[in-house]
Amino acid sequence: MKLFDVYPLFDVTIDHGKGCYVYDDKGQEYLDFYGGHAVISIGHCHPRYLQTMQEQAAKLSFYSNAVKNPLQVKLAEKLGPICGYDDYQLFLINSGAEANENALKLASFYTGKKKVIAFGHAFHGRTSAAVNVTQNPKIQAPINTTFPVEFFELGDIEGIRASIAKGAVAAVIIEGISGVGGIHIPTTEFMQQLRQVTAENGVVLILDEIQSGYGRSGKFFAHQHYGIRPDIITMAKGIANGYPFAGVLISPMFTPVYGQLGTTFGGNHLGCALACTVLDVIQDEHLIENAAQQGEYLMQGLKSMNIPGLKELRGRGLMIGIEFDHPYKEVRNRLLYDQHVFTGAAGTNVLRILPPLCITRKECDLFLERFEKAL
Ligand SMILES: Cc1ncc(COP(=O)(O)O)c(C=O)c1O
Repeated sequence: MKLFDVYPLFDVTIDHGKGCYVYDDKGQEYLDFYGGHAVISIGHCHPRYLQTMQEQAAKLSFYSNAVKNPLQVKLAEKLGPICGYDDYQLFLINSGAEANENALKLASFYTGKKKVIAFGHAFHGRTSAAVNVTQNPKIQAPINTTFPVEFFELGDIEGIRASIAKGAVAAVIIEGISGVGGIHIPTTEFMQQLRQVTAENGVVLILDEIQSGYGRSGKFFAHQHYGIRPDIITMAKGIANGYPFAGVLISPMFTPVYGQLGTTFGGNHLGCALACTVLDVIQDEHLIENAAQQGEYLMQGLKSMNIPGLKELRGRGLMIGIEFDHPYKEVRNRLLYDQHVFTGAAGTNVLRILPPLCITRKECDLFLERFEKAL
């Protein structure tokens, strides 16, 4: 049987990882400034993560959501105070798209409406509702366009105000910092106005923190830089350091209804145990502070470098975009094949830097040195 060939692949086979490094099947070491697409938060194969994996798997990796699962409660109790949403409710699923799917459904159940406002450069996933609020026709099948969506550019508060005034909007969905779209940071003023106009009109504000959350921006959630509190927050990626796991944080204004949401695998025992260990490591190793500090250091290093064809440097914490006025392809290939550094990308011209939150000053220096050589 052949694999369904939907991924253009690098000619590299990653065999194992440790901390901020991965190693291919020939033993070549790579500096991981991609984190497997912003997924690796506490570093590859962290000893505490491995210990939890072994202990929990030896005890119980899965049982259904039909029975009590104290690990879900433990995770919720741990997460609440760390992320600043102790009064919110937690619903657990398996992937980022599923988190947004459930967030959009909740907003629609709550308001009884079905129109959604989303943003031009955003990416919210590939399941039906999530892809419908992602403005990329190439990944939308005809069956996905099932409810009305209006797309705006970041900052267009007047357009949004006018659209909401018509009364049909259930939700606004927005990323804390847009990732796949190329690291675009909304202004604090815009985010505060968006919070105000949605609150005043009974429209649910959904913050997609799947890529920008879990400490990556230097705060637990990127939207905390703007001083707002959304109604629903979606999280995935770094939540369990690579074990497929995701969550939705739901404001107390939503009342849970038996059977309204559900999942087979979501919130399974192994995932919950790993997610608890990830939070412990994030706290004990001060990884959010580290993301802020190392991100600042990287930004300063990049600013002081002569980068030919640089259009703009954008970012917060360990979510940095380097936009060129030409395609990044050659630089990215040289970084990977000559300098042995993994980076992410957005579109054709933006290199995305998304390292694990545990990178050190030494690894930042190594990145800057190798990046300069690859230019
Ligand atoms: C902001 C954002 N939302 C949603 C998703 C979808 O997550 P998943 O691929 O886990 O479904 C992604 C994935 O890159 C993302 O970056």
